[in-house]
Amino acid sequence: MNGRELNGKVALVTGGSRGIGLAISESLASAGCRVAIVARNGQRASEAAEALPGEGHAGFGCDVADSGAVQQMTTEVEAAVGPVDILVNNAGITRDNILIRMKDEEFDEVIATNLKGAFNLTRAVARGMMKRRDGAILNITSVVGLTGNAGQANYAASKAGMVGLTKSVAKELAGRGVRCNAIAPGFIRTDMTDELSDSQVEALKGIIPMGALGEPADISGVARFLVGPFARYITGQVLAVDGGMVM
Ligand code: NAI
Repeated sequence: MNGRELNGKVALVTGGSRGIGLAISESLASAGCRVAIVARNGQRASEAAEALPGEGHAGFGCDVADSGAVQQMTTEVEAAVGPVDILVNNAGITRDNILIRMKDEEFDEVIATNLKGAFNLTRAVARGMMKRRDGAILNITSVVGLTGNAGQANYAASKAGMVGLTKSVAKELAGRGVRCNAIAPGFIRTDMTDELSDSQVEALKGIIPMGALGEPADISGVARFLVGPFARYITGQVLAVDGGMVM
């Protein structure tokens, strides 16, 4: 994909200021999109948007878990950047703990950000996409949403929930020209996985058939494909990008 197959499209990427979200923002900007980067810290979002290739990008500060704030931010994005053609629900957090020690706040915060956040954004942009009979929504879930993971009951539940959200939205909006898919990344090198110790990383490599962690660019290329015209007949799919961990 060397062309600019997304020329003139507007993409909104949550959690786009760093890690996987930043790589997706860069990839969509290279494909010709104007990108609205949304992150909790508005200044970081703006700095990241300014550094993207091409013009017309902008950054916005918003907590995706706050549905009122999401509604207001989406209105601002549409006024400043344009109607949203592509939504990438990438913002996500972990609050790992073993089940019997997990606090209510640890469970609730993760569900509110990862799952309710994706719902908030999807609902906010869906009406416009349906009216224009054109749109692509991409949810960044996780392989642990497919397999479960000890110590991550909250996170795995939120990511499994995103799978159900993806398929429901895909079914509901397919007839209106709007597609919805998900990527389930395996272990990717970002701030989130920097928390892992060297011994944990070595143990992980042992369970990844390709023998290495992935890079944000391994996700962003697939994201660009799934929201673009080459995937025009694909909806409701969850694609694991994980070096072969989940087959
Ligand atoms: P990261 O921690 O580097 O970046 C997360 C981004 O989400 C940041 O930009 C942060 O500002 C934003 N964010 C968090 N809470 C937010 C909120 N309430 N409102 C707005 N923005 C918020 O994470 P990373 O590694 O880039 O992960 C991105 C996505 O990929 C997450 O959904 C994560 O669960 C998922 N993922 C990551 C994997 C990995 O190995 N790094 C593996 C599987 C899934």
